[in-house]
Amino acid sequence: MDKLLIEGGRPLAGELRVSGAKNAALPILCAALLSPEPLTLTNVPRLNDVRTMQTLLAQMGVRLDAGTRGTVALDARSIDWPLAPYELVKTMRASILALGPLLARCGEARVSLPGGCAIGLRPVDQHVKGLQAMGAEIDLEHGYINARATRLKGTRFGFDLVTVTGTENLLMAATLADGTTVLENAAREPEVVDLARCLTAMGARIDGAGTDRITIDGVAALHGATHAIMPDRIETGTFLAAVAATGGDALLTGTQAGTLDAVLDKLREAGATVDEAPASIRIRRRGALAAIHIRTAPYPAFPTDMQAQMMALATRAHGTTVITETIFENRMMHVQELVRLGAVIDVEGNAAIVKGVAKLTGATVMATDLRASACLVIAGLMAEGETTIDRIYHLDRGYEEIEEKLSALGARIRRIQ
Ligand code: UD1
Repeated sequence: MDKLLIEGGRPLAGELRVSGAKNAALPILCAALLSPEPLTLTNVPRLNDVRTMQTLLAQMGVRLDAGTRGTVALDARSIDWPLAPYELVKTMRASILALGPLLARCGEARVSLPGGCAIGLRPVDQHVKGLQAMGAEIDLEHGYINARATRLKGTRFGFDLVTVTGTENLLMAATLADGTTVLENAAREPEVVDLARCLTAMGARIDGAGTDRITIDGVAALHGATHAIMPDRIETGTFLAAVAATGGDALLTGTQAGTLDAVLDKLREAGATVDEAPASIRIRRRGALAAIHIRTAPYPAFPTDMQAQMMALATRAHGTTVITETIFENRMMHVQELVRLGAVIDVEGNAAIVKGVAKLTGATVMATDLRASACLVIAGLMAEGETTIDRIYHLDRGYEEIEEKLSALGARIRRIQ
């Protein structure tokens, strides 16, 4: 298993280009299932989760052609197997995103229930309830969701809680439904908006994406299109946090500052200087890190996917930081690893109380999930001496060429097998 070796204590400086967004690419790859005509995507990040989704689609009969520089052409002329098997779903929960499009296009779908996930229960009841409200017959058998519908029917559906992939699943399904669907308490995440943009380019009729009420007028068929995946706001935030944490100065290009307001505000509060342009962000920090308070919540509030990275930053702040996690019930597993590096953190319920220390010192730590891995990389870059991060396969699910990108900013980081 690969490990990362980091020699910390050096400020990051320079310029780097952010990749396409994993969480936009995954639903948009599934959107290809909705049309018999080709969908061409650009700015698709080369990540293990994206490869898993491509394998899943290929198994269903979708033809994929990967070109240069993140271009992927998908041709779902015929779908032979409307099935997402356990072997793939267990490695990537986002496989559930195939359910809505398969059902809408083929009239049937069989998708494995995602298994237990390290960061919480993460059930899919809202996806199922929404499709049932659209007239689908659904039963759960042998660990699979079996869904059937001759043609889905437009309906009004209010989510009991805000779910990103739940919103995306129903949004995709509704594009081919008979009549109008109104989704209330919908997720407002920029990735939902990017998906809606792609679906609109394919001929879907969608209004209100980016608000909590999305209206979709179903059409008989969608056509081919070309779509560029939006920049990854979590990758952007991760690099910004790393630069601020190490007292560096860097310019991130190919990003969208407007999707990161809550994160940029907290970085400024922590003592960084942040200059925004529409497609780039410069960050630098000279003075001390200040303690901040963070509470995760659905967009536009502070994203749960940036919580762990900001905790790394907080370990060396002046004073006490409180970080409250409201989305997932078990997303504090990085705490015990940060403590191994010398951080002082108490967990009380869903809150971490981080007492800033003068220094972190390198140690061997273990990555437990994707964003926890990013947190440990940042902490390793801050720590004196050498940090070894074990189980970095989590990192490869969601960060494209992270060692190369950090090395380009002057980090001493290498992968060992
Ligand atoms: C997506 C993101 C993930 C991010 C999360 C929250 C993708 C591929 N993944 O995950 O990176 O951390 O949003 O911003 O986009 N829930 C239910 N029932 C459901 C669905 C969700 O109870 O049917 C709960 C979950 O257990 C969780 C909360 O709702 O506590 C939010 O989950 P959700 O927004 O669905 O997360 P994902 O879409 O899986």
